[in-house]
Amino acid sequence: MEVKIYDNAEEIAVAAAKLFVDIINEKNDAVLGLATGATPVPTYGKLIEAYKNGEVSFEKVRTFNLDEYCDLPKDDKNSYYTFMHEQLFNAVDVKEENVNFLDGNAEDWEAESKRYAEAMASVGGIDIQLLGIGTNGHIGFNEPADAFTDESFKVTLTQSTINSNQKYFGDVPMPRYALTMGIGSIMRAKKILLIATGESKAKAIAGMIKGGVTPQLPASVLNEHQDAIIMLDKAAASLLD
Ligand code: PGA
Repeated sequence: MEVKIYDNAEEIAVAAAKLFVDIINEKNDAVLGLATGATPVPTYGKLIEAYKNGEVSFEKVRTFNLDEYCDLPKDDKNSYYTFMHEQLFNAVDVKEENVNFLDGNAEDWEAESKRYAEAMASVGGIDIQLLGIGTNGHIGFNEPADAFTDESFKVTLTQSTINSNQKYFGDVPMPRYALTMGIGSIMRAKKILLIATGESKAKAIAGMIKGGVTPQLPASVLNEHQDAIIMLDKAAASLLD
């Protein structure tokens, strides 16, 4: 794991977007694993800027998102499908047919997991997977557990995740379930970039880097990836030595 510390979130966004632009320019039909949440939003902003400045095109890019809520219409204002279109896809030249999500409303989540795994394999796997980290160390919606998961699966969200995300739903109770790529699906990406900003992530980051590999802190599995980069601002890195 390569750990890089930046002064602030803006600097991370610049560095993270540059990494993506370089990969896309090397391989026009790059396969991107994408993440939702507040942390990647500035990075998506920089990618939109790069596209508008003619530095990169997403015309042949394929995307796979990490996760999606269950029991929420695809175009609900809080679905991750909507989030990605608002934060990135609508502003760049990515083709809708190349955009992939888990279907949180699939009747048979096991069949849906198989479909997603096959779709990722059929394009040669993910070239770079972007990740955030939960305050409890989750990646995607892989919550602390007794064992690492493999392919995508249906998860019951923890209270910690509900406490973090309920704010987006206002007075409406947020979904209790989601489909998420499993740890195995994430670890099969050729390169992984985890970004974390703010003091609320400092404990999870310290555990990930210093605490050994454990499914109780799912992000710690990245210690076993051969090409994982961790970009932190000073606040998220504040509990490191
Ligand atoms: P955040 O979420 O970027 O909104 O903090 C990160 C995550 O839960 O993975």
